[in-house]
Amino acid sequence: MSDKSSTGLRKGLTSYGDSGFSLFLRKAFIKGAGYTDSALDRPVVGIVNTGSAYNPCHGNAPQLIEAVKRGVMLAGGLPMDFPTISIHESFSSPTSMYLRNLMSMDTEEMLRAQPMDAVVMIGGCDKTVPAQLMGAASAGLPAIQLITGSMLTGSHRSERVGACTDCRRYWGKFRAEEIDEQEISDVNNQLVASVGTCSVMGTASTMACIAEALGMTVPGGATPPAVTADRMRVAEQSGVQAVKMARERLTIDKILTPDAFHNAMRVLLAIGGSTNGIIHLTAIAGRCGLEVDLKALDRMGRDTPVLVDLKPSGQHYMEDFHHAGGMATLLRELKPLLKLDALTVTGRTLGEEIELSGAGFAQDVVKTRDRPIYPQGGIAVLEGNLAPGGAIIKQSAANPELMEHVGRAVVFENADDMAQRIDSDDLDVAADDILVLKNIGPKGAPGMPEAGYIPIPKKLAKAGVKDIVRISDGRMSGTAFGTIVLHVTPEAAIGGPLAHVHNGDQIRLSVSNREISLLVSNEELAQRARDEPVQVPTAGRGYRKLFLETVTQADKGVDFDFLRAEHITGSTPTME
Ligand code: FES
Repeated sequence: MSDKSSTGLRKGLTSYGDSGFSLFLRKAFIKGAGYTDSALDRPVVGIVNTGSAYNPCHGNAPQLIEAVKRGVMLAGGLPMDFPTISIHESFSSPTSMYLRNLMSMDTEEMLRAQPMDAVVMIGGCDKTVPAQLMGAASAGLPAIQLITGSMLTGSHRSERVGACTDCRRYWGKFRAEEIDEQEISDVNNQLVASVGTCSVMGTASTMACIAEALGMTVPGGATPPAVTADRMRVAEQSGVQAVKMARERLTIDKILTPDAFHNAMRVLLAIGGSTNGIIHLTAIAGRCGLEVDLKALDRMGRDTPVLVDLKPSGQHYMEDFHHAGGMATLLRELKPLLKLDALTVTGRTLGEEIELSGAGFAQDVVKTRDRPIYPQGGIAVLEGNLAPGGAIIKQSAANPELMEHVGRAVVFENADDMAQRIDSDDLDVAADDILVLKNIGPKGAPGMPEAGYIPIPKKLAKAGVKDIVRISDGRMSGTAFGTIVLHVTPEAAIGGPLAHVHNGDQIRLSVSNREISLLVSNEELAQRARDEPVQVPTAGRGYRKLFLETVTQADKGVDFDFLRAEHITGSTPTME
């Protein structure tokens, strides 16, 4: 800690026009909580408390805070916990994504406004980790991500179940009238067996693995379940490490480099991770002045096999991944594909951490590169006249028979239209049609909700249809599966070609050619654009106004334009 005037409680003094008085007053107030001068002279480690009664995914926050504080004090620092917004998927209307950027602003500004030399950020549920990494990247402090950890799996009539792939599977059975009211009510008690994040490779688990791959957690920080001793040890280590980072001024810009994002994208592909991971990584990279090169990401996908056998792409749950050695096992297997010189929060490189993790042991969750779950990365990037700015498909969770397909468009104008008609017996739809849902993009819904997982129309579900090609400008939960094209850019609400798809148009999906095309001539599309001008959504006041006026498209991470770095200085991943 070199310059005492800019560290600890002296940092970021409130403006009263007299810095001596500002510090005197600050100390007087904090002493009201019983602190001594000796305590107040130590490196200050902020702890972002995102505990909330509305967020059971963060239900272990009190225990985590206690463990982080213990670590900070063991290392000679002063822990100071403080709240920020907390976001849970099921308690955020209209959608959690609408609030992610707000949480990132809250995180950034509280990290700037309050005196701290380093910060430990407790996050877990889908949008919280990206929001915290975005905010911390902009604030520029030494920062560690502490993941809350996954929930335990439950048991329904002797079958192992967990949120939320099994939530969707059982709901699908109920919709198809394969199970009755009593059974759907019984399984509702078992899907979430403890506090913690969803137990499959959904967005929360994906972001946990990405955070570790970025070097932003202590080694082994991604996988311990929320209610385990391992998770509490990770919290204690995070506290110890934060003090070390404060002393060494190991700021976040030294960790979130192009190489770190390269590693995170490798991991995203190899875990069969959530498609949301791309949007969040794009947003975090944007805060660091880096553009995500979707074409390079697709090339990376072609030589990155899916190795982690977790639902929804595979069989297991997050706690099994932890028992199999967690991220150390995966990183060891991916080593030839990683940028090993990338720095982590320990001050050591990722390569050094892989060496320190030892030789590994026999297990059946992380496969070897010569015997993968899926030969290519889980996510493919599509292009074509329907998505000039790109679209994606999670091919590892798609039906191989539908990945090369031409079909007739069955169009829903927005989410309400779909809700009203999807289960109607009158809906003109067949199993080889393509469902198109418009206006669920960043501005359209707004907030780009996870409504891209369009349900199978009831009459097809009852006839035994399990999958159908679906296309939208929205997102999909990481726990969902199916042949589903997402993030169509530009979105329908700002006049993207998706806005002008008509019922009965032919659409071609070719994952092998990375193509999503509307088989309608350019002249016809231009005529439709003139005949059907779109009304871009607006709002009169408040956060919604800010959101609609400044939110970017999926290829910019759906961040607000004024929150991205002022200058873009590079791109990632870097594929030779
Ligand atoms: Fe929080 Fe799934 S709802 S992680």
